[in-house]
Amino acid sequence: MAAAARDWRLAPSAALLLVCLAGSARGAFHRQLSAKLNPGYSSLPPGGDLLHVRAVGVNDTLHYLFSSQGAPTLLLLHTDSASSDIQVNWTQFLARNTSGGLWVEPESSLQFSSALVFSRLLEYDDVNDTATPTSDLFPPYDLQNFTWSRLNLSGPAPTALLCGGVARGSLCLRLAVFGDEGRGQRWPRLLHSANSSQMEVWLDGVAPRSPRSRFLLELQTVGGAYLPSRVDVHRSIDDEFTPSIFQVSQWVSSAVDGSAVLGFVQWKPVAYRRSDPVLEDATPCRHSEPVPQSGAAAASSSALVRAFFATPHAVGLNVSFGLAGEPFYNGSGFLSWTLLVGVGSPPVDAFSPLVVGIMAVSLGTPMILLLLGGVCVCFRKRDGTNAGQAYEPIN
Ligand SMILES: *[C@@H]1O[C@H](CO)[C@@H](O)[C@H](O)[C@H]1NC(C)=O
Ligand SMILES: *[C@@H]1O[C@H](CO)[C@@H](O)[C@H](O)[C@H]1NC(C)=O
Ligand SMILES: *[C@@H]1O[C@H](CO)[C@@H](O)[C@H](O)[C@H]1NC(C)=O
Ligand SMILES: *[C@@H]1O[C@H](CO)[C@@H](O)[C@H](O)[C@H]1NC(C)=O
Ligand SMILES: *[C@@H]1O[C@H](CO)[C@@H](O)[C@H](O)[C@H]1NC(C)=O
Ligand SMILES: *[C@@H]1O[C@H](CO)[C@@H](O)[C@H](O)[C@H]1NC(C)=O
Ligand SMILES: *[C@@H]1O[C@H](CO)[C@@H](O)[C@H](O)[C@H]1NC(C)=O
Ligand SMILES: *[C@@H]1O[C@H](CO)[C@@H](O)[C@H](O)[C@H]1NC(C)=O
Ligand SMILES: *[C@@H]1O[C@H](CO)[C@@H](O)[C@H](O)[C@H]1NC(C)=O
Repeated sequence: MAAAARDWRLAPSAALLLVCLAGSARGAFHRQLSAKLNPGYSSLPPGGDLLHVRAVGVNDTLHYLFSSQGAPTLLLLHTDSASSDIQVNWTQFLARNTSGGLWVEPESSLQFSSALVFSRLLEYDDVNDTATPTSDLFPPYDLQNFTWSRLNLSGPAPTALLCGGVARGSLCLRLAVFGDEGRGQRWPRLLHSANSSQMEVWLDGVAPRSPRSRFLLELQTVGGAYLPSRVDVHRSIDDEFTPSIFQVSQWVSSAVDGSAVLGFVQWKPVAYRRSDPVLEDATPCRHSEPVPQSGAAAASSSALVRAFFATPHAVGLNVSFGLAGEPFYNGSGFLSWTLLVGVGSPPVDAFSPLVVGIMAVSLGTPMILLLLGGVCVCFRKRDGTNAGQAYEPIN
């Protein structure tokens, strides 16, 4: 598609018009962002940091909380007030034995809350290159037991980097929160809105426990009430932004009656085997079906879950990297995967103006030719009937 696209770049004026329209529509919805590390704590808290990003809209606020106290956790709180704020009782938050260590003020403004916990890293020996983790699992890496680096916060759009050591290498997470619609700079170049954040996860230089090791990442979403959770897979014919990938997976929490999507985790089923990838470094990934998990275990693994939810309900799934026949981890010693976390409906990759232009030209041209052809045939027919009269029937 990309090669074809280049050839058509100048052709359709319709595409140019669409580019203009898309350009003017962008920036319609904006959130004001502000970030604070360890709000209300005078120094660096023992055991890990807590980042708070406020994303203030017209009449609402999204609070992003990211913490490395225990398993890395991103908590998203949506309130219907532009002046809502977060309070932390650090004594309770750090003791991690009761809920109520973190809350929203005013409490009545809370509309939706959901946490994403990065719970475990699993590794298996894929001796027969089937990419099906069954019996050959190594003991899992429990992310709650890692010694995490301090959160490294950088701007202007708040970005936070967290790394933990694993088998002579590192597992890193980079959170970026957005105030406007846009698209990631690097593959998979996910489309984000002002209601979402992006998390990049990568495994760098980890010493695999077998030459044919593959990895899985276990994720959990946690809510205060049970919310139906499912993964929808959407297909597309457009891979302009993520070459060779025609799917997007959306793990959504919908209202109890199933009507509205309240929150989502979205990703493309692709990981990259180098930090500066070319197309050959893309490797497919798969997810398992979401299954209910112990809420109590989620609370004991994550300080944010413990502090915020009185009765946590958790659902988990695994993302596995690589398919049968794909290179093993030891080939490059690197693996990165990107996901989006947000409230409301997930962003939808509309056909890009370029693709619309190509379709318009490639479908339109035969149409015009057909029409022209039809007109010609009509004229020929009329000529034909006239001509026919010049012949005498043969008896
Ligand atoms: C914000 O709230 C005010 C007062 O409740 C209301 O008049 C206004 O329409 C709201 N604006 C939006 C964009 O929802
Ligand atoms: C924090 O919680 C502790 C233990 O429950 C309590 O004694 C203390 O008063 C609380 N601090 C604040 C500022 O609410
Ligand atoms: C929680 O832990 C703190 C500090 O270890 C302790 O003082 C407190 O009694 C504990 N609270 C509960 C409810 O177990
Ligand atoms: C790998 O293949 C061998 C031979 O077919 C078989 O005996 C063994 O059980 C397989 N191992 C796994 C983990 O599937
Ligand atoms: C991680 O720590 C928890 C709590 O201390 C413990 O129950 C669990 O067994 C540990 N996991 C691993 C893999 O060591
Ligand atoms: C924090 O991140 C910036 C940019 O990624 C980097 O230059 C800097 O060295 C990092 N600081 C620490 C303490 O890791
Ligand atoms: C983001 O959330 C706000 C407030 O709920 C809503 O008005 C807006 O349409 C949402 N934007 C997108 C792109 O979903
Ligand atoms: C990875 O393991 C395979 C199988 O043992 C081996 O042939 C290959 O040399 C290893 N690659 C690296 C980079 O270590
Ligand atoms: C992830 O995979 C491991 C190993 O197969 C399994 O024990 C665990 O239950 C899975 N987790 C989820 C949430 O499905």
